[in-house]
Amino acid sequence: MLVGGVVAAMDGNGKDDGATINPKQQVVSAKRPALPLKLLLLAVLATGFLAVVVIFLSGFTYSMLPRFSLLLMSSAPLSSSSPTTQLAGGNGKTPLERWITTPATTAWHNMTDDELRWAATWHPAIATYPYKRVPKVAFMFLTHGPLPLAPLWEKFFSGATSNDLYSVYIHASPDYTAAADEFSPASPFYRRHVPSQAVEWGQPTMVDAERRLLANALLDLANDRFVLLSESCVPLFNFSVVYSYITGSNHSFVGAVDDPGPGGRGRYSGELAPEVSPEQWRKGAQWFELHRDLAVLVVADDRYYPKFREHCRPGCYMDEHYLPTVMSVEAPARIANRSVTWVDWSGGGAHPTTFGEANVDEAFLTRQTTVTDQGKCTYNGQPSEVCFLFSRKFAADTLQPMLKLAPKMLGYG
Ligand SMILES: *[C@@H]1O[C@H](CO)[C@@H](O)[C@H](O)[C@H]1NC(C)=O
Ligand SMILES: *[C@@H]1O[C@H](CO)[C@@H](O)[C@H](O)[C@H]1NC(C)=O
Ligand SMILES: *[C@@H]1O[C@H](CO)[C@@H](O)[C@H](O)[C@H]1NC(C)=O
Ligand SMILES: *[C@@H]1O[C@H](CO)[C@@H](O)[C@H](O)[C@H]1NC(C)=O
Repeated sequence: MLVGGVVAAMDGNGKDDGATINPKQQVVSAKRPALPLKLLLLAVLATGFLAVVVIFLSGFTYSMLPRFSLLLMSSAPLSSSSPTTQLAGGNGKTPLERWITTPATTAWHNMTDDELRWAATWHPAIATYPYKRVPKVAFMFLTHGPLPLAPLWEKFFSGATSNDLYSVYIHASPDYTAAADEFSPASPFYRRHVPSQAVEWGQPTMVDAERRLLANALLDLANDRFVLLSESCVPLFNFSVVYSYITGSNHSFVGAVDDPGPGGRGRYSGELAPEVSPEQWRKGAQWFELHRDLAVLVVADDRYYPKFREHCRPGCYMDEHYLPTVMSVEAPARIANRSVTWVDWSGGGAHPTTFGEANVDEAFLTRQTTVTDQGKCTYNGQPSEVCFLFSRKFAADTLQPMLKLAPKMLGYG
């Protein structure tokens, strides 16, 4: 499917339109409320004080400090208690517990991209965790504005046996100021927007946003797998199927093919040598899934990234080449060379098919979840009948038919 898609895309020197920017997007005027400066200042002061005490009390090394202060800084309840109460037990948590606790209920913060990248790429050098770690899957939504299919995703997430199995991050346009009011407190999407920058179709800013999402999700140490989705993606299976498929895989699902045509190697620029040779150049759909250590590698990358940013601009599309190429060079045995997000390229041309209300019925769902659209693939080296967990592109008006199909698709809801 993917290879066929790539060929179809290649013929038109095509380009998936990613998290497409809808020109009719409403721009809402309300501004996101500023962060309470005093609270943050207090948190920063408390953090410094506490950090020093932690060194004395528990002999922690300096290397732990930045992560530690980050947890505190973003942890709202702590900022309301005085440094003294934090010392006397810090909400009844041990230092290790505080170290590994989910940073905050909100994904928002005021770090710059540079600060964020630095904070996000701390990585334990010891592979085993000295505590029972339940891996979380981070679902990262790249969208221009609203997430019209969120009610379907909310149903999907309601099948999680615990909220500690997943987390949600949303990168919307900075113009999209209705974000704060989009979801109710009960929603997994509530306050999950991350600080964002403008994204242009086919431009490196698209990959900047992907990296920004990864960096934000890395701040939560429990996040172990990272999935990129768009506002037009839907799940094809229920939460437990998706969760076990992703966490049980030895490979990260990054599409990567060596396409000899003009839409593949034809987009390679000699300026990328010596870091990347034409033989190493890969193409793949933007919608990836990554293991944590590979996510760290991507966010920390300052070897390939600046060169791609400079030398892969339209008609080279960085979002179709950066990750497939860099993963194929740096960690070829770690990636499945296929995406878990299905898309229909059968129409040919630069853009995949968008499905509307009229397309979505039970027969469609059956096709999507069986060999007709799933095709054949390998999973952990074995033949598998489940190859795609997500599907795109679904227009907003597919919500109602999808909700109606949800009980059949999910087994609940
Ligand atoms: C974030 O907020 C704190 C507290 O108000 C402030 O000291 C710091 O400079 C801010 N950082 C950025 C990058 O704006
Ligand atoms: C993915 O492709 C690379 C070559 O780029 C290969 O080394 C690797 O084994 C492939 N992965 C799988 C799961 O087949
Ligand atoms: C996955 O990788 C681990 C560690 O390399 C290995 O022990 C395990 O057998 C692999 N599982 C499969 C299904 O390939
Ligand atoms: C999720 O889907 C699988 C496969 O269809 C099914 O066996 C399982 O019962 C479903 N889980 C729930 C909670 O419905």
